[in-house]
Amino acid sequence: MCGIVGYNGSKKAVDILLDGLSKLEYRGYDSAGIAIRDNDIEVFKAKGKLSNLKEKIENKDLKGTCGIGHTRWATHGEPSEVNAHPHVSNDGNVTLVHNGIIENYQELILKLERHDYKLYSETDTEVLANIIDYYYKKYKMGPIDAINRTMVRVRGSYAIAVMFKEYPDEIWVARKDSPMIIGKNEDGTYLASDVPAILKYTKNVYYIDNLEAACLKKDKVIFYDLNGDEIQKELKEIKWDVSAAEKEGYEHFMIKEINEQPDVVKKTINSLVIDNKIDLSKTGLTVEEIKSFKQIYIVACGSAYHVGVCAQYILEDLTRVPVRVEIASEFRYRKPILDKKGLVIVISQSGETADSLAALREAKNQGVKTLGIINVVGSSIAREADHVLYTLAGPEIAVATTKAFSTQLIACYALAIEMGHVKRKINNKLYNNLINDLVKLPEQIEYILKNNTKNVQKISSKFSSIKDAFYIGRGLDYAISLEGSLKLKEVSYIHSEAYAAGELKHGTISLIEDGTLVIGIATQEEIFEKTISNLVEVKSRGAYVVVVAPEGVDVSKVANNTINVPITNKYFYPSLTVVPLQLIGYYITISKGLDVDKPRNLAKSVTVE
Ligand code: BG6
Repeated sequence: MCGIVGYNGSKKAVDILLDGLSKLEYRGYDSAGIAIRDNDIEVFKAKGKLSNLKEKIENKDLKGTCGIGHTRWATHGEPSEVNAHPHVSNDGNVTLVHNGIIENYQELILKLERHDYKLYSETDTEVLANIIDYYYKKYKMGPIDAINRTMVRVRGSYAIAVMFKEYPDEIWVARKDSPMIIGKNEDGTYLASDVPAILKYTKNVYYIDNLEAACLKKDKVIFYDLNGDEIQKELKEIKWDVSAAEKEGYEHFMIKEINEQPDVVKKTINSLVIDNKIDLSKTGLTVEEIKSFKQIYIVACGSAYHVGVCAQYILEDLTRVPVRVEIASEFRYRKPILDKKGLVIVISQSGETADSLAALREAKNQGVKTLGIINVVGSSIAREADHVLYTLAGPEIAVATTKAFSTQLIACYALAIEMGHVKRKINNKLYNNLINDLVKLPEQIEYILKNNTKNVQKISSKFSSIKDAFYIGRGLDYAISLEGSLKLKEVSYIHSEAYAAGELKHGTISLIEDGTLVIGIATQEEIFEKTISNLVEVKSRGAYVVVVAPEGVDVSKVANNTINVPITNKYFYPSLTVVPLQLIGYYITISKGLDVDKPRNLAKSVTVE
């Protein structure tokens, strides 16, 4: 997954491109490049972070007011200057940046070789540039014809921005399955993989759909369908403010976004609780529909999948509807047997994760209703799902999700409470109690951040040199320990595993030795004693035990360190216990001097398989 950006207007393009790329680096940061058009098209590329490219061009006076840029997350061809984008067709006619994967690129290479094209890189993208050039020269019908013929011929996912030698002052774009947003203001037209890259310049955007193309001129954007016919698009206003995409004085986006959780959780609750009642009307789901669901499937990737595991416990308890939680990359190829009276819920922050998008399409192909719990407005999953429940986390920049995760939990709570109520599985008293406890969560998260951060920082400072860690819990505590463990390993590169506390003694406890860090989450009253006895088992084998437990609950007999969270409803503890778990991941990582916002080998959302 990569980040692409483009500008065509009256201003110097280089500044706008570099600024945009710096906002997209969370999408990939192993190499970067830009192409600026003045009289001619000049291409500059560099391996490594964007700062290397900036260094390379800092003494160049690039006056051009039209250009495209790219920051890469390598898929085809190792991170290198040669494989970096933009790529240029053999004779320089086509210059292109691309986000996505061309699946049939080997077959296309054979076609190009039959027509004497030579390739200098290992990338599928260079193949794309030459295929466009091939059709451009063969049919001489101009850019839109060449692009549309290419879209018909290639298989895979792509968002591309193209400059044609013979069409100065124009940038051509097209997309299929990879995200792209197009902006416009009085200074020109903009394109980007994600909102933060252009938010500084405009809030007025167009959403380009799959298999559509467009021409960005200096003062307007013209859209085309696959037949090459012009189509109209409505300019829409984005509600996010620029500061949301800046660090606002925090050292890292991750700690900023952790501290934004009280606010965004409150916003998401306020969008779902109206006059002390759950209101899902914005999703378009009717009470009859909610009543009718006989089976629920939750499909997602990464942390979003962990939200699903938490939601399974709550949904089944409150609705008595069976819930299956599925990893999207497995679900899409497992030919799942889906109940037609079921509901497939796809959870995704970006709304662009390829496996989750494909899982959604699988469910739709089987005629099963779909609901997207999505953070990015206008994203692919949001547009293709039958119903959408938007979380209001705002733009999330750090690769490791935190605030979006917390808002997704709220969305699942609201769905479970409402479905349990309309299915008459919970009475009015429980319904009101749950809502009363739900609306207290923002201030309780605030309380944890205010009163626990220092304690967690102190505890975390002991563990910067550990090699392994274990997170254990039972029930909902096990579900959230999955996220706690991922939060540590994805940013600190420390090997970590989450385990159902009762399962440990069936094998993995053999890994516990003197000083092994075990973080136990113990909030679920019914199974509290059981969790404590599992912690005693690891403690007695030398583990260093940190326990996350509700205030007033004594865990001193087993805990080396205790992290307390306020008391809440048993179903809502994931929203409180995840905060210290996020902080542990953050503080251990920065104590190791690592780039917590852009961990190696990862990307914010993976739009390729
Ligand atoms: C990974 C991110 O690439 O994708 C994770 O690093 C995220 O943080 C996962 O949970 C799924 O992304 P999304 O956008 O579908 O929620």
